This record gives sequence, C-alpha cells and structure tokens, in this order.
Amino acid sequence: MLEDQVSRTALFTAYSRGYHCNYDKPRIFADPLAFSLLSSEERDRIELLLMEVFRAANPVAAALFTDTQSAMGWMMQSGAAASILLSRAQYAEECLEKSLESGVCQYVMLGAGLDSFAFRRPELAEKLELFEIDHPATQAHKRQRLTELGWVQPANLHYVPVDFTRQRLADRLGDSPYDPGLPVFFSWLGVTYYLPREVVLATLREVAKVAKSGSSIVFDYLDREAFEPRKCAPRVQRMLNHVESLGEPMQSGFDPLSLPAEMTSVGLELAENLCPGEIHSRWFLGRSDHYRACEHVHFAHAKIL
Ligand SMILES: C[S@@+](CC[C@H](N)C(=O)[O-])C[C@H]1O[C@@H](n2cnc3c(N)ncnc32)[C@H](O)[C@@H]1O
Repeated sequence: MLEDQVSRTALFTAYSRGYHCNYDKPRIFADPLAFSLLSSEERDRIELLLMEVFRAANPVAAALFTDTQSAMGWMMQSGAAASILLSRAQYAEECLEKSLESGVCQYVMLGAGLDSFAFRRPELAEKLELFEIDHPATQAHKRQRLTELGWVQPANLHYVPVDFTRQRLADRLGDSPYDPGLPVFFSWLGVTYYLPREVVLATLREVAKVAKSGSSIVFDYLDREAFEPRKCAPRVQRMLNHVESLGEPMQSGFDPLSLPAEMTSVGLELAENLCPGEIHSRWFLGRSDHYRACEHVHFAHAKIL
C-alpha cells in the first residue's frame, strides 16, 4: 500500500459493508456502523470511482442505471469484492464466538482497517481485550475519524500501529497490554493478498510465537490460479486490476492443497480450509439476488500448536 495514505481498499471494504447493511436482504454480515466510519466526501468519491469502473467494464449495463444506489447494487452483487469481505467477516466472527466458549479473552484484529467490532458488538467486546493492529497510516486515519464522530473509546480497545513489511508483530504487541499467557483469537481479513509471500509466512510465525497454545487465527487468501491470467475468473481479474490502480496490488496466493504443510512449518495447524463451494453453501445458498461466493478465495482457520 502507499506509505503515507490510508488504505484505499480499507475504505472500499467499509463502503461495501455499509451498502450491504443498508440495502440488501437477507444480510450476509450486518455492520450498521460501517457507513459512519466514512466521511460523506469519502462515500461520494467511492461511488464516483465505482461508477467509472462500471462504465469502463460494461458501458451497456451501466447506461441502464439511472440512480447511483441501484448501480452500486449491481456492482456489489456482480463484482468479487463484496461477496468476499462480507462472508469472511461473518466467518471470523462466528469462529470468534465459538472460541469465547473455550476461554478466549483477547481478540487481535490484524490489518483491522475500518472494522467496527469494538463498537458494533459490545456484548462480545466487553468480554475481551481488543487489539487493532494496522498500518500506521490507516490506523491514524481511523482514529481521526473516530475522534470526529465523538464515539467513546472503550477502555479495553488498544491500537497498535504495525507495518508488517518492516516491523515484527511480536515486538509491537510486546509494547502493548497484550498478554501472551492468555488465550487469544486473531483475525487477518483481506490482508494476505497484499503482502509478499515471505511477509505473510513470517507474520504467521510471529502469531504462533506470541499466542498461547490452543489459540487460533482466521485469515482469507487467494489461490495461485488467481494470478494466472488464463485461469483467473473474469470478476477476480477485474478486482486485481482495480486494486492495482488504487496503489494496492494483490501479490500473494497459496495452494490450498499445500497450505496444511505450510501452516505446520510456521507453527500452526490448519483446522479448516474452506473452498469457494463450501463458502457458497454456508453463506450464499438460497439467496434470490446475485451474491455468490467468489472464485479463487478461501478461508482458513488455524490453531496455534
Ligand atoms: C482490504 S483492507 C482490509 C481491512 C479489514 N480487515 C476488512 O476486512 O475490512 C487491507 C488492510 O490491510 C492493511 N495493510 C496493508 N498492508 C499492510 C502492511 N504492510 N502492514 C500493516 N497493515 C497493512 C491496510 O492498512 C488495510 O487496513
């Protein structure tokens, strides 16, 4: 991502969660606070940019829409991004809720972006120490926005700026109230794609180092075929092109078949490795709109050994 500016993709994911919560039924993931985390200028800019992308990709369809809201609906449902980010957020919070039953008392959101969990789920949040880890530029932007909104900061919410490409997660968490002796749940949503592969593996190794045995992490990843233009699904290729144009190119993927061995090599044990078909069955089946699980995207849940 660009060094000194808020992650553009974090703004887009917040927009998509907000759009979905306000205009789609039934909801795959409900985030009624997402739109508030964007200023009205940011929302306008995102809609303008999405309209440009729509017109460039499909001028005939784009000309049929006379209002922004329905054009955005078409973009959300036919594009790749919204279906990925809604279902992975739902998956992570379902896994978090289960892990609370087994005593987890810390939640670390790696690359949190504009995740609203701390404010949106007070009944769960109050049982946890919360750590938002993010690139310094994105985190500073979010904190500024929260100040503008005047939302009361929960005392159990801790912000830890980290650039995964330059800093060690263990060192940075060590400077915070994080307790390595207590069970923890990590989410790492929408981030592995953007980092060099060795940084992804090094960060997972750091997670294994700082987390008590039995703790776990959920993350999403692209398979390697997404990076082969002849095999990549068209809407995923459009997403790759779009994020590259925003200055945040996707660069890393994993082979779902070799992921178990790769997780073992960094001190983790893969407990679940959902493919697009399984993701579709869990969160999309029976919908009457056009949301469907995204080709090439997988969800992993790994335990710390
Ligand atoms: C697509 S957004 C996902 C945000 C959030 N997890 C979600 O699902 O909405 C990508 C996130 O990765 C973070 N990120 C990208 N590169 C990073 C890096 N080198 N170090 C730390 N965070 C990074 C961005 O700041 C941003 O918050």
